[in-house]
Amino acid sequence: MIDVNIDKGFVNLPVPENIDLKKEIDRLKKEKNAVILAHYYQSGDLQDIADFVGDSLALAQWAARTDADILVMCGVHFMGETAKILCPDKKVLVPDMNAGCSLADSCNADDFALFLKENPGYTVISYVNTSAAVKALTDVVVTSTNARQIVESFPADEKIIFGPDRNLGNYINSVTGRNMKLWNGACHVHEQFSVEKIVELKKKYPDALLLAHPECKNVILALADKIGSTAALLKFSTQSDAKRFIVATESGILHEMQKQNPDKTFIPAPPNDSTCACNECNFMRLNTMEKLYNCLKYEQPEINVDAEIAKKAILPIRRMLDISAKLGL
Ligand code: 13P
Ligand code: SF4
Repeated sequence: MIDVNIDKGFVNLPVPENIDLKKEIDRLKKEKNAVILAHYYQSGDLQDIADFVGDSLALAQWAARTDADILVMCGVHFMGETAKILCPDKKVLVPDMNAGCSLADSCNADDFALFLKENPGYTVISYVNTSAAVKALTDVVVTSTNARQIVESFPADEKIIFGPDRNLGNYINSVTGRNMKLWNGACHVHEQFSVEKIVELKKKYPDALLLAHPECKNVILALADKIGSTAALLKFSTQSDAKRFIVATESGILHEMQKQNPDKTFIPAPPNDSTCACNECNFMRLNTMEKLYNCLKYEQPEINVDAEIAKKAILPIRRMLDISAKLGL
């Protein structure tokens, strides 16, 4: 039975048999003047077909300057929302509307508003992994690429609330000497890495460097040779003389790391309670080539943002882009 179930957040139609998906996606893309953006946490086939692959900051920067009519965000919902807020006149699609984010979900806008009311007089800095409604309550948005520099662009005695990621917030506090008040949220993927299994891997491969995303817990970060956003970890792996790396972030990034460094070995850091050796984000991995094809064909599911919320949310996003441009990020 054919199922165009937009209510459930995806176009779950079977794709016609014997079609070359890659060719058809390219054809639809040209026909509709669409661009495909993909985050490094997408599966390799989606990264390979995208017009642009990047981290959260780069995706927002790219969305802000595209002149396409349709933008397909192969990533999660908050990334599509950010693109829609930046390009209100464009159609923004996501292959699967159910591609959410546990970190964004850990910060409900009503609860956050109450928290801000209970703590008046603070500058509010929010990670991009938030809903548009939380961004609308925020003074400046950050990503893991620019969080440290944006926090440091405020006077040392600025009273700051940082949300929603407690691990990123703690990390920024530790490297800047700030004492930001933190929202108690986290990403279920990055919290899952096993210290014991990483220590075992380090023993087995003493030459390997540990690369970790700042959404990981402090115990993992304490072992890391390099802490940074997906883009920063990728750059480090390419520039480093080391030949082997253990990677503590969503394993999709290994695709580009391996592509750029065919002579190096990348080992995904294992999660705590899984038989799988790597750590995938179940939300990111809802997107597939089949859903991308249907999404381009039917121009669904589409991201829309309430106009009043968008009017407020664009201010801290623009502020982030402006500061980043000044800092050359
Ligand atoms: P970056 O893209 O900033 O590295 O963050 C990763 C992430 O959490 C995406 O969900
Ligand atoms: Fe959200 Fe974590 Fe998935 Fe990134 S990896 S989209 S922060 S749940």
